[in-house]
Parts: sequence; C-alpha cells; structure tokens
Amino acid sequence: MAQFSLVSASVGLITLQNPPVNALSAVLRQGIVDAVEKALCDPKVKSVVICGQNGIFCGGADIREFGTNMRGPPLIPMIHAIESANKPMVAAIEGSALGGGLELALGCHYRIAHSQARLGLPEVTLGLLPAAGGSQRLPRLIGVPAALNLITTGRHVTAAEALQLGIVDQVTDHNTVDAAVKFSQSVAGQSLDGRRISTYPCPVQPNLDAFFEEAMLKVRQSARGAIAPVACVQAVRAAATLPYAQGMKREKELMATLFTSGQARALQYCFFAQRAVGRWSTPSGGRWDTSKPRPVHTAAVIGLGTMGRGITVALAQTGLSVVAVETQVKQLTEAKQAVSGMLERGATRRGAAPTPDRITYSENIQAVAGADLVIEAVFEDMALKEKVFRQLSDVCKPGALLCTNTSALDIDHLASQTRNPELVVGMHFFAPAHVMKLLEVVYGPRSSSQAVATAMQLGKKMGKISVAVGNCRGFVGNRMLKPYLEQAFFLLEEGATPELVDRALEDFGFPMGVFKVSDLSGLDVGWRVRKADGMVESGLSTGPSARIRQGRRYSPLGDLLCEQGRFGQKTGRGWYLYDKPGGRVSKSDPWLHSFLEEYRVQQGLVARRVDQQEVLERCLFALINEGFQILEEGIAAGPEDIDAIYVFGYGWPRHRGGPMFYAGMVGLAKVMERLDHYHQAHPDEPSLQPCSLLRRLVASGKKLHSQL
Ligand code: NAI
Repeated sequence: MAQFSLVSASVGLITLQNPPVNALSAVLRQGIVDAVEKALCDPKVKSVVICGQNGIFCGGADIREFGTNMRGPPLIPMIHAIESANKPMVAAIEGSALGGGLELALGCHYRIAHSQARLGLPEVTLGLLPAAGGSQRLPRLIGVPAALNLITTGRHVTAAEALQLGIVDQVTDHNTVDAAVKFSQSVAGQSLDGRRISTYPCPVQPNLDAFFEEAMLKVRQSARGAIAPVACVQAVRAAATLPYAQGMKREKELMATLFTSGQARALQYCFFAQRAVGRWSTPSGGRWDTSKPRPVHTAAVIGLGTMGRGITVALAQTGLSVVAVETQVKQLTEAKQAVSGMLERGATRRGAAPTPDRITYSENIQAVAGADLVIEAVFEDMALKEKVFRQLSDVCKPGALLCTNTSALDIDHLASQTRNPELVVGMHFFAPAHVMKLLEVVYGPRSSSQAVATAMQLGKKMGKISVAVGNCRGFVGNRMLKPYLEQAFFLLEEGATPELVDRALEDFGFPMGVFKVSDLSGLDVGWRVRKADGMVESGLSTGPSARIRQGRRYSPLGDLLCEQGRFGQKTGRGWYLYDKPGGRVSKSDPWLHSFLEEYRVQQGLVARRVDQQEVLERCLFALINEGFQILEEGIAAGPEDIDAIYVFGYGWPRHRGGPMFYAGMVGLAKVMERLDHYHQAHPDEPSLQPCSLLRRLVASGKKLHSQL
C-alpha cells in the first residue's frame, strides 16, 4: 500500500510500503493512484514528496505478477498522472530506484537522492525493456548515448554518477525525505512547464543513423542471440526519432514481443533459480534454514597455483585474514606478486584500498594451525591430496573445516584421511576464482550439515552463487561436461572441424565453443586425467578397437594432439593456431585439418557433412541427458541447481535458462526422440541413451519446470 500524510503543513508525503523492496504490486499501484489523487485534491497540499519505507525507494515491478493477468491500475497512466500534476512532485530516493521504481521517479518533476542510493533500469537482464516510459524519458533527460548505455546493459549507477548524468537534481548525505520536503517547499508554486520529461525534445545526436547502426552492431555482438538488448536499442531509437506519444507506442509493441518470447521467461527463471539454490538441502536432512554455519575469521589456502591465488584474493577481498601456504619457493615468490597485483587491480575497480596485509605467506603447513577453514588447492593428484589432508588433520585446530578445490576427486575418500570426516567438504571454485561467480559446495555422505552451511555461507559472503551438490566423479558441472566434450570429439571423427563445432555453439550463445575453451584451459589437463584413468594408449593403432575403451566409443584425438606437444594456447597450438605460446587470438590451422583427414583415412572413417543442428543436438542433448541422470541420483537437488551451475560457471547463455530449462523449452519428448535417434546410429555411445528419469517424465507427460 501507499501511505499518505501531511507534513510541514503543506507537503503531501506518499510513502510506498511493500516490503522488502517496495515492488510495484497491484495493491501498491492502487495505493499510489489513491494517494496522488488525495494530494492533488487537498488544497492544503502545495507540493508532494514520494518516498519508500525502510530506506528503499522502489525495487521496480513485482516480477511475480509477470505472466499472470495483471490486475490493478497500470503503471503508465499512473506515472502520467504524476507527471501532469499541477503541484511539484519530488522523488526522495534512498536505497534503490530500479526499473519501474526509476520510471516512477522519472515521472516526478524533481529527484533528490541519498549519496548511497543506486539507480538503474535493469529490465534487459530479465529479457525486457523499461516499458513504463523509461525508454522514452531517460534519453530525453540525459541524452541518447548515456541512456542507451544504461538501458542496454541494465547497469546500476551510484547517486554521484546519477547526478553527473543529470538523472537526479540533488544528492544528500543527510535525511533524504527531509531534504526532499524542504526542496519541494522551495519550488511550490513555481511553473512546472520545464519539468515534465515527456515534453522535452530528445537532445540532438549528430549522425543519428550511423550512431544507431554502430550501436546495434555492438549490442548484437555482445548479446549473443539475446533479443532484449536489441529491442532496447530500437526503443531508444524511437525516443530519438519520434514524438513522445509515438515512441510510447513503439515501446509497447517492442515490450509485447519480448514479453511473449521464451527468452524473457528463461531470464526470469534464472533470476529465481539464483535465489532458489541458496535454499539448499541434503539427502541426510541438512537444510539452509536449520543448519547453523560456524564463524570463519581466518581462512587458509594450500597451494598457490592458478586456483590458490584467485581463492586467496577472493578470501582477502571478503575481509578475512588469510594464511597462504606454498611449498615451492619460486611459486611462492610469483604468487605473492600475482596476488598483490590482483588485489590492487580489484581495489582500483571498487574504489577501495587494497588489503595485502590481510594475507600471511608460508612454506610450512604448520602455519594454518589457527585457521577456522582451510581450502586445499594442490595438484589434482589423489596421493598428494591424501597426504595433505592427513597433515591438515594433525595440524589444524579442533573444529576447523577442511575443504578441497578438487575438480573431480572423491570427497569422501579425502574425508576418510582425517580424524573428523564430518568437517570435510568440497569448495569447487572456477578459474579465475576471484572473478567467476560459481561455487560448487560438495558434500560427502559424512559431511555434517554445519560444514555445508559454513561453506555455503562463506561462498555467499564472497559474492558467489553457491550450489550444494553431492559427491560423484566431476560433481555436477564437470560430470555433465564429459559427454558434451566426447560428442564434440566424435563429430570431428565423423567429418566436422573445430571451427564448425565452435561456430554452432557460439551461435547458440556460448561465449566460446568447446574447442576454443579446451585450448584456453589446456589440453594437457584432460590428458593427464585420461592417462590416470588408463584410457590413453600411446601412438595410434588402427582397427575398430583403436577407438573403443572399456566397451564404449572413445576418441583418441585429444591424446594424439597432446603427444605432439599441442596443449592449446600455452604452447601456441592446439585445436587452433596462436601467434605465440600464450597467444589468445585463435586462427584456423591447416595442419590440424590435414591431421584430421589423415586420421580418418587411417581409421577407415569416411567424412560426412555435419550440420549445426547435429552439433547442437549431440553435444547439448548428451549433456542434458547426464543432467537427468544426476537428478535421478539426487546429486543435484533440483533442475534449478544444474541450471545455475551452467549459467554462472560454464557460459551457458542465460537467455536460454540453463540446460534443464532449455530441455523443457525444446520439449522433453523431442529431446528423448533425438537422443534415441542418435543412439540408434551410435549404439556404442551410452551417453546418447535417454536415461530412465527422462523416459519416465516423457511417458507421464510431467514437466521438470513449473514455469514451462
Ligand atoms: P596448479 O598446478 O596451478 O597449482 C598447484 C600448486 O600447488 C602448485 O603451485 C604447487 O607447487 C602447489 N603444491 C603442490 N603440493 C603442495 C603442498 N603439499 N603444499 C602446498 N602447495 C603445494 O594447479 P591449479 O590449476 O591451481 O589446480 C589446483 C586444484 O584446483 C586442482 O585440484 C584442480 O583440479 C583444481 N581446479 C582447477 C581449476 C583450473 O581451472 N585450473 C578449476 C577448478 C579446480
């Protein structure tokens, strides 16, 4: 609801009241309409201030109302009524004014913000555009380039930036409502003719056509198939070229297209999935709301390679004291330098002071004795990790949580090396660990719910999307990646090229195709794992058994490349060619193409035409099938967990909602039918055989997601 009161004898104060963020629900909109009417009719009221309860102006539309039959007064006429009022309307912005909240403020004649407030139009991140006049008013107020930037990225701006851009008229460090009340009294009775943004002409933009062409090109490139950013450009263009009323018509048309698109549904699903994963539970009864985390003040990191360095930075940036242990002197020296560089760059970005003094370095594991939580990040070698866990069990204080950053190894086995296996969990970060949003918190059968709660809470403090998952080879993310990679290799054997496969995946919306990612992370990583698993036979044998391991199809292509010293970017060649070792720009490599041809000849394989559809179906449906298997085994608690892992850790395009949501969009029956089709053609590829959960869901007609 909205509360109306008279303050300072002549100011009507309208307070938005809809906790937690004063979202513009039907009831609140009705309250605003009524309160505005009351203020305008009351002769004692000379000016009006609109503010929000509990230090938040307004977080925007009520997303839960999307997709339902909208009740209550619509937003656009409500904002118009505010703008056309003949008494000054002042928005007092504390906390945040986002989406519909900022659009409401843009309908006011003046805006006063608290210095800590943040403003923005983030609709694009939900697959929408600011369609309560935001796309038409903002360019009129601050000019086309600045408005286009805010609307197409959805980024939030600070009060200081908002003042500089001209979105707000004043910023205060004091009580915002008091400041707005005083301000409104000072302008009461003045003409409002120059204060109604919808009547402003859009500031002239030179070379308008060229400007928008370039903007569209840029947005299309970064959007990777998402349609909302494109619609945002079109809406701003309407603001720049059409009278306000016609611009509003265009805004409405564009919104209608977005609203009914699957993309908006997928993006809104991601928004809720991100929250849902925080409400974790484990099969042994641990739950987010009943398990109390232990306090963590001092953390330790063991092993300062690629991952350990990033984890150290992320912990220090969270405000923890960190003890960082590395046994190799050279690595330790390099790590110190790298970590302080990362901290400095991070501090510059955030406008804060770097915090190197929070970190102490040591070559000796004894240094971690006082830590509340330890994260091990030594080489992916079980024997080495066993040893480290035994040492930690001896050295650490009672109750300290012992975590491993292993990508795939058995958490329970590591726990069995310690005196308190209930205190062992996986904290699986993604590279670079101080940047990537995802954290898989892996619980073993003996991990206590308090241990899971502590790791989840720490992840949250570090700003990660933490997802609790069960213990199995590769956990959720890497386990699903295996059949995806495998299919990509098989497609090369059958006639595809790395370029063709990567192109299909990038057109689908991945930032990088599977072979480019492989080159980036190093082909030797998987090679080492396959060797340890006894899958690699050196040299190339011929005959059917050359491509069979443990009774199933196997492609030795990756192994053969590694034998040639082609480890990807680090050696300047892998699936692609780079200008030098460590180079980042990939080029097609004629050597690789001849190598593939020779390989097929040797193996008696006849190349056929592989199209984009087959690439997507074989790679993505095999990955999705593994996702169903993971759900069936209870390794992930629900489809949201898998989807969040893929969207935040593996570059799955957010506008496609994550692999499990995408399967629902395609239709589970279709996914199953295509898997069956490919499995018939390739009976030695078990990852293409639809798993029983998928079959059962299709047979019963049940859906995995209620949103679909
Ligand atoms: P890395 O090879 O870059 O670094 C490992 C570091 O551990 C080296 O500096 C080594 O000197 C040090 N070390 C070895 N034994 C030690 C001991 N007893 N005490 C202290 N330090 C010791 O390895 P990276 O890539 O950082 O991987 C570490 C772990 O993280 C592995 O388990 C890996 O599977 C996992 N991981 C790696 C990811 C990646 O993208 N590199 C992503 C997610 C997990």
